[in-house]
Amino acid sequence: MKLSDNTVLITGGTSGIGRALAAQFLARGATVLVTGRSAERLDEVRAALPGVHTFVCDQADPGSVAALCAEVVRAFPDLNVLINNAGIGLKLNLNDEARRLEDLEAEIRTNLIGPIQMVQLLLPHLKRQAGPVIVNVSSGLAFVPMPLKPIYCATKAAMHSYTQSLRAQLKATPVRVVELAPPAVRTAFNAGQEDINVKGAMDVTKFAEAAMRGLGRGRDEVLPGLTPVLRLIGRLNPRALIRAAEAERMGAAGAPRRP
Ligand SMILES: NC(=O)c1ccc[n+]([C@@H]2O[C@H](COP(=O)([O-])OP(=O)(O)OC[C@H]3O[C@@H](n4cnc5c(N)ncnc54)[C@H](OP(=O)(O)O)[C@@H]3O)[C@@H](O)[C@H]2O)c1
Repeated sequence: MKLSDNTVLITGGTSGIGRALAAQFLARGATVLVTGRSAERLDEVRAALPGVHTFVCDQADPGSVAALCAEVVRAFPDLNVLINNAGIGLKLNLNDEARRLEDLEAEIRTNLIGPIQMVQLLLPHLKRQAGPVIVNVSSGLAFVPMPLKPIYCATKAAMHSYTQSLRAQLKATPVRVVELAPPAVRTAFNAGQEDINVKGAMDVTKFAEAAMRGLGRGRDEVLPGLTPVLRLIGRLNPRALIRAAEAERMGAAGAPRRP
């Protein structure tokens, strides 16, 4: 994709990857729109990234997503790039009988249903633009399930699958569809989860620079950092992280630990 002359909507731009991508696009002269759930956090982004436009939107709420899409198309008729970035990733123990179904569904609504709804509502508009691009942010964990984050990995595997089908269905249209699959990146996303995967996590600015290089090269799949390794593991040894979790549960002495 071309990296200049864009009007870019980035969901989840109050921190981490979304915010770093917003800075990259702003530096290239783009008009940048970011979303988040909290007006205060969006105020902070406006102070840190002068020129950015912000919108309160809860991606897990279909009404909120519909209102956002109507508003941005009305206020920014040149909108040509959608980056479906907002997401949550929860460590969940599925043995926990007290957990409410609504809590389990929140991740699916945020990571999968919200982005699909964004695409559906903005697609008619994007098809009429010059250089339209949809970037879906998945994860290296789309390729290998990690039992500690069962719903998250399922949503990202679904995002990977959906993005491939979307690309195929839009082939005859001007809309390009790109999957951006981050490896572990040091952001708030991993706060409190240092036990999982963040030891070799990538710096978020370096990640955003690598992502921009990949987007600029026009690749269908942009896989910065260690993501290609995860994808290879997913092909050669798809149960690798499941086996590692099982080994960890058994403990060194071979005695099963409590789930
Ligand atoms: N960091 C990693 O290691 C990593 C690895 C692979 C993939 N990813 C993916 O990269 C994307 C960004 O993650 P990140 O690391 O930048 O995480 P982050 O720093 O926690 O940022 C997440 C962003 O999503 C927004 N968000 C969360 N729930 C939302 C909702 N319901 N509605 C609207 N916005 C919402 C947050 O905004 P508010 O909280 O202000 O609403 C925040 O701006 C996610 O899709 C994640 O799955 C991250």
